[in-house]
Amino acid sequence: MSHVAVTREAARLTLALARPEKKNALTNAMYTALHEALEAAAEDAAVGVVVLTGAPGVFTAGNDLGDFMANPPSGENSPVFRLLRALVNFPKPIVAAVDGPAVGIGTTALLHCDFVVATPTTRFQMPFVKLGLVPEGGSSLLLPQLAGLQRASEHLLLGEPFDATEAKAMGLVNRIVPADELLTTANHFADAFAARPREAIRLAKALLRDRQRAELLETLGKEGAVFVERLSSPEAHAAFAAFFAKK
Ligand code: COA
Repeated sequence: MSHVAVTREAARLTLALARPEKKNALTNAMYTALHEALEAAAEDAAVGVVVLTGAPGVFTAGNDLGDFMANPPSGENSPVFRLLRALVNFPKPIVAAVDGPAVGIGTTALLHCDFVVATPTTRFQMPFVKLGLVPEGGSSLLLPQLAGLQRASEHLLLGEPFDATEAKAMGLVNRIVPADELLTTANHFADAFAARPREAIRLAKALLRDRQRAELLETLGKEGAVFVERLSSPEAHAAFAAFFAKK
């Protein structure tokens, strides 16, 4: 069971995280399912846009900490890093529809989306350092560019949650809508992206993103190497144990 629902309606492919009992915490199997779906969608001429979403009331609690301890990523071909590269290299528009907790990679993945719709109850958080870890997902490069170094430092070093209003002010979110309008709004914009001339939008996205791709891929490599090291640190083990002990 991959806990990722993949559905297609006309040119819109929706990838919905579907593990609500664990707040959509992402396992290796889920990373693999997402990565494979994106790779297939990149090649599939029938797909014009991807919508990335969660379940009602929860986008994702980020990496599954239990899975991370049992099967930690060991190198660049680990499922989480393959997914991140697939996001960075994805040639078509990605629209994210986010509600509830969007923790860790649940926030950093949004930096690779082209349009983000959130709700007033979305809670973004990048608690890497609190967990004894370091920023991932290219956030050490992209967040300072988006939000400025001061604000990026606050969110990447302190790691406290922040709301959709702040996320919109820093440029991470395009629209804030009530939860019951989240998917219709995301689908509306996704369909607008899909209705643009396909080749023109592919070339335009490439112009927006290509300049930085090499640096971003290099950043993913550097972040990933330190992240993997940190996973076996006493600081990380203590933080993970505290989470599971519900301290
Ligand atoms: N990894 C593994 N399991 C997780 C998880 C994660 N990242 N996040 C939540 N879960 C599990 C909980 O252990 C719990 O399982 P249980 O019912 O078997 O005890 C279940 O999902 C529900 O989580 P809970 O914490 O009770 O829900 P909540 O609504 O009180 O809080 C969050 C939601 C997202 C705020 C909270 O779960 C959280 O902070 N999770 C950890 C986030 C994190 O640090 N992610 C890693 C980023 S690198």
